[in-house]
Amino acid sequence: MRKILDYAQPSLQGTLRIPGDKSVSHRSIMFGSIAKGETTIEGFLQSDDCLATIDCFTKLGVEILIDGENVQVKSNGIDAWKEPSDILYTGNSGTTTRLMLGILAGSNLTTVLIGDESIQKRPMKRVTAPLKKMGAHFIGREDAQFTPIAMEGKKLQAIHYKMPVASAQVKSAILLAALNAEGETILTEIEISRDHTEKMLRHFGADLTVEDKTIYLTGGQKLTGTHVVVPGDISSAAFFLAAGSIVPNSKLVLQNVGLNPTRTGIVDVLKEMGANVSILELDNVSHEEIGDITVETSELKGTEIGGDLIPRLIDEIPIIALLATQATGKTIIKDAEELKVKETNRIDAVVNELKKLGANITATADGMIIEGPTPLHGGDIDTYGDHRIGMMAAIASLITSTAVTIDNENCIAVSYPNFFEHLLSVIK
Ligand code: S3P
Repeated sequence: MRKILDYAQPSLQGTLRIPGDKSVSHRSIMFGSIAKGETTIEGFLQSDDCLATIDCFTKLGVEILIDGENVQVKSNGIDAWKEPSDILYTGNSGTTTRLMLGILAGSNLTTVLIGDESIQKRPMKRVTAPLKKMGAHFIGREDAQFTPIAMEGKKLQAIHYKMPVASAQVKSAILLAALNAEGETILTEIEISRDHTEKMLRHFGADLTVEDKTIYLTGGQKLTGTHVVVPGDISSAAFFLAAGSIVPNSKLVLQNVGLNPTRTGIVDVLKEMGANVSILELDNVSHEEIGDITVETSELKGTEIGGDLIPRLIDEIPIIALLATQATGKTIIKDAEELKVKETNRIDAVVNELKKLGANITATADGMIIEGPTPLHGGDIDTYGDHRIGMMAAIASLITSTAVTIDNENCIAVSYPNFFEHLLSVIK
């Protein structure tokens, strides 16, 4: 059903407590299930993606109790999991799918993974190829490029591997397989991607060494259940950071935002564009930094985004493109080919949909070019079932002259189930 977004010249004022980080929430369930003992999680993101992860581990016999943002995981370790009688459904979640491949390839179980329509089109060979080199056995379409993928768990061997793409999902799948493999795995990234897996491995008692872009992890280490505090998701906060900068007469305070330096590219870009944004660094929880961010209406200027900045803001590019439509001058986003294999092809989706609203935006082979500032008008937006396209359109509607409609508001629940509730609470 289409949702009509018609907010007459709003201003945004108030404070939001940003919901739990999706990447950290997935990992807390995974690590808690691999570990022996009890894990308690605080601030868990109860979104569709993270619930898909819980569902997979429940089918593997792990006891998981959800009480709102508090989750309890009770496990006797990976060797005690039971062979599931059903296929494991990973929904729309790339993180669930790719990390589960890494975890299950080295278990003693036979399992089958399948995801939704979008997942069935997303490339898995980036994970299954290195795992095969470690001794994993997969059966799946186009040589285990696409789900459904069946796996027969095997004792794996360590690997020395140079990753061809900057991807935390690939890195994490290999590290999780390496944890249960024989020998020392040495993994080198081309650019540093989000390091929540490395941080959480330490939090659960594992020993690993990180030297610049290379990670050393010796297999056979056991994890022990612990308490995990999940920071708020900076990728969710990003929509309100953008809204606060482009909607006239606005000031927002975003609390509890995860400030892991591998994720804060959006703040760097906002500052570079001249946004009135400031961070109050508050704390370190479960090996992750958190703090509050304030943002006020700002005069923005165009910028250039590429290179090692891309993995630090890959999920924020749709909302950065919207910001750029309101900035003076040209914004160039390059080195971002990975956008083509996200929940949808985000270069095409962002360019097509922002054009419908009047943006001056052109797709390039590895990103996009935006000229601003451009007044935007309303239009009918297709989300392509992609939560971040849906939220980009909703924020755009705050500055359009007429109403914006989106075809599927439900997809937003993948990462930010109470997005509209939060949005309405700060509209004045
Ligand atoms: C994620 C890694 C990124 C990101 C995704 C979550 C993770 O994907 O886009 O939303 O939790 O590891 P890639 O590893 O494909 O870059």
